[in-house]
Amino acid sequence: MSLPASLRATLSSTPLADESRSFDRALDRIAPSQHVFDASLYSPEAVRTVAAQWRYRMAFEHRSSMVFSQLAQQLYEANASLDAKIVMLRMASDELRHTGTCAAVIEALDPSGGSPSVEVDLEVAPLARHGNASPQERALRNVIYTTCMSEMVACARFVATLDRTTDPFLRDAMRRLLADEVLHGQFGFHYLASQREWLAAHDVERASIERFLVHAFAVIEEELAPKPPFAELSDEAKALGGDDFALAREVFYGTMEHAVVPGLEQQGLDAGASWKGRKRLV
Ligand SMILES: [Fe+2]
Ligand SMILES: [Fe+2]
Repeated sequence: MSLPASLRATLSSTPLADESRSFDRALDRIAPSQHVFDASLYSPEAVRTVAAQWRYRMAFEHRSSMVFSQLAQQLYEANASLDAKIVMLRMASDELRHTGTCAAVIEALDPSGGSPSVEVDLEVAPLARHGNASPQERALRNVIYTTCMSEMVACARFVATLDRTTDPFLRDAMRRLLADEVLHGQFGFHYLASQREWLAAHDVERASIERFLVHAFAVIEEELAPKPPFAELSDEAKALGGDDFALAREVFYGTMEHAVVPGLEQQGLDAGASWKGRKRLV
């Protein structure tokens, strides 16, 4: 069953909106931009392209919230520490807040387009249960995949893109998202550190997670390492923070080899061997 819908980031006209705004302010690491987007500096086509990318990002942020809210449930089942559950729920909220940030950017880029919306499928894709894995192992596998791998790559891509984005309004919007994504990428490594003793005492589960990594590395490579040929990006697109798939590919391998694999190894997992032998197992 799919649930196609037009997703908007509107607030209701009830006191829930005030609660939502004060929650947003409390969690904000970076204040909303004081800059106003000046479309006259760029060609309409470049602005349209970057607006489409923010629309795609809006849908993606919303979907990430669905993933983290389910991952929170798996942390409940794993009897995780209170802080891990609180931060995971915060991360689910962050992704909803990011959905709102994306909508604000789309509105600034395309002010004549009305209230920003994006076509999505609202059906919540269930998070993997990993067969007979124990609740602890199941949560660890999904935490590693979503945060240590996926969010780390997203974070590194953001940093690389931000580095050459010169538009001040878009730079601020990207920095607002990035400020939270750093936490999202770090979460998994902190969670692994909290599970170190459990992992050291459970050889069978540790070996099973290392086997899972063989598969997970292959899946994430298919998902997040774009394949050539790549279109050359214009200077204008770079200034606006446009997606550069050649850069994304380079950043993917750099992040996996120099951050994710060593980070997992530091937590007692033989991730180097799993990365070298990566292949889909199912
Ligand atoms: Fe996000
Ligand atoms: Fe995130």
